[in-house]
Amino acid sequence: MDIERPGAEQWVPSDADVDRLRDAVQGCRGCELWRGATQAVFGDGDAPARLMLVGEQPGDKEDLAGEPFVGPAGRILSQALEQAGVSRESVYVTNAVKHFRFEMRGKRRIHQRPDAGNIQACRPWLEAEFAAVQPAVVVCLGATAGRAVLGRVVKVGAERGRPLDSSGRIVVVTIHPSAVLRLRDSGQRSEAVAGLAADLRVAAKLARDVDTA
Ligand code: URA
Ligand code: SF4
Repeated sequence: MDIERPGAEQWVPSDADVDRLRDAVQGCRGCELWRGATQAVFGDGDAPARLMLVGEQPGDKEDLAGEPFVGPAGRILSQALEQAGVSRESVYVTNAVKHFRFEMRGKRRIHQRPDAGNIQACRPWLEAEFAAVQPAVVVCLGATAGRAVLGRVVKVGAERGRPLDSSGRIVVVTIHPSAVLRLRDSGQRSEAVAGLAADLRVAAKLARDVDTA
């Protein structure tokens, strides 16, 4: 085993509910990211939940608040959920990686994408959340989440908005809300939010269909 990246297994309590997992994750040393971060940011929402949304990793605001998607990307996500007619309270929201990865630029912490090793190291927490939340459908927000959940490289543009199968689990891939923030033009941004909302609507319908099957 790689000593630098032992992975999270040994820190994940077995058969634990979300509250116990959320306590335990603060002690995780499964990769190096805990060193620089303020705290681990675990998933938020009631369990069980029909829909589970997976992002990439906490951002600056999330790292400080201890909750996922409370910053600018979270605002976009809330907008899209509202457009899709899905209440944010009804979904479980989490990230593929639980600690913030960044580099310092002057006094600012600049987001850095988690690497494949971070994603793999953190995967046991995601597995534990799947077991505790029992979602009917998992939505991957962006390529990092797609990779974490599906275990392969995901092309968001080509694969978004339709059911994908991952070992019997129904998965829907869509864009990351941050991709909306990077667009300059407000028309393009509205269009991107509408696209995200459309994919969320597909996922919500799939979850309902599972319930009535
Ligand atoms: N981006 C993410 O992927 N997750 C968050 O929690 C915030 C921003
Ligand atoms: Fe553990 Fe994940 Fe944090 Fe790495 S990012 S220390 S694996 S919780």
